Amino acid sequence: MFEPNKIIVTGGCGFIGSNFVHWVVDNTQCDVVVLDKLTYAGNPENIAGLPEDRVRLVVGDICDAALLDELVPGVDAIVHYAAESHNDNSIADPSPFLHTNVEGTYQLLEACRRHGKRLHHVSTDEVYGDLALDDPARFTEETPYHPSSPYSSTKASSDLLVRAWGRTFGVQATISNCSNNYGPYQHIEKFIPRQITNIICGIRPKLYGDGKNVRDWIHTEDHSSAVWTILTKGTPGETYLIGADGEKNNIDVLHAILEGMGQPADAFDWVRDRPGHDRRYAIDSTKLRTELGWQPQHTNFAEGLAQTIAWYRENEAWWRPAKEATEAKYAKQGQ
Ligand code: NAD
Ligand code: DAU
Repeated sequence: MFEPNKIIVTGGCGFIGSNFVHWVVDNTQCDVVVLDKLTYAGNPENIAGLPEDRVRLVVGDICDAALLDELVPGVDAIVHYAAESHNDNSIADPSPFLHTNVEGTYQLLEACRRHGKRLHHVSTDEVYGDLALDDPARFTEETPYHPSSPYSSTKASSDLLVRAWGRTFGVQATISNCSNNYGPYQHIEKFIPRQITNIICGIRPKLYGDGKNVRDWIHTEDHSSAVWTILTKGTPGETYLIGADGEKNNIDVLHAILEGMGQPADAFDWVRDRPGHDRRYAIDSTKLRTELGWQPQHTNFAEGLAQTIAWYRENEAWWRPAKEATEAKYAKQGQ
């Protein structure tokens, strides 16, 4: 059992990173240094109100080796969430994805090597590419890498760097690959919050392609508990898949949102498909469940979605400033 007293959480002002910081404060004694560049996706409001003696925000870039040399000696481990995370953005401009996802992970690995610290690298199921709709298979830790988008190829690259630094330099690192998260603080460029906030704004929701693409939804709080489990009980050098058996196609998710918000089932627009759009993701998380004893708690999707809709209704001041620019960007792409 690894028992960290203090960790760096990179990307701790983003969606999943900030939910993890809340989870750590609520469920452990561990203190947190959030290292975040505050890009368009990072918002200090996400961690506002947390106890100042437990959580410190450092605004900076994970590619800044000198800054890492200041911060890393003072902690026991780094939990690495920082990334450019949106597929559509990576198609419009891949460059920041290479900087943050590849170069940034390299700099963190080098800092861990210099200072003898542990790393947990947070990655995605998209590194495995996609599955056919009629294929009963799910991704496992043994599935070959086959990424489709600029985003997922940079995440795959970062995973391979972590594996190489473990084997060649002995860096003590674990990797997790998780499926699609939903919950509070998710940027409104992403599917579920985009449709919820569209409806609140009187804009029709937008569905890509034929709407049959399948995603394997997990509540972000379950992702947090899984990452903590892997950090504290996982074996360095190992990869663990995180998923909660939440496969659903996009049209069913959209219908659930429309129904939950009192809209007719056909009150949405079909829009241009995403180039290279992955068809289906599905996670087999047997290894994490059997070897480390993790179980998801929020498996009632209808309940989680209702809470998420309520959160966006109650926190309009949080998302409203980003809405116009986000929709303008999509409009340019015909989406
Ligand atoms: P997000 O886009 O909401 O947040 C990313 C955060 O990283 C932001 O706070 C941003 O300011 C910060 N950041 C970006 N570049 C940085 C840099 N160079 N230096 C320091 N900070 C920087 O992302 P998210 O959806 O919360 O995803 C977090 C992580 O989880 C990513 O690594 C992503 O690949 C992974 N992941 C996401 C999902 C999902 O469904 N969203 C699923 C599986 C894995
Ligand atoms: O699987 C994990 C991945 O999940 C993470 O690695 C990524 O960081 C995260 O963004 C997410 O990627 P997706 O591309 O699956 O998520 P997104 O929310 O962008 O889209 C979900 C599905 O909904 C996808 O099939 C595209 C579709 N979509 C999306 C938007 C924004 C629409 O139909 N309409 C939309 O307006």
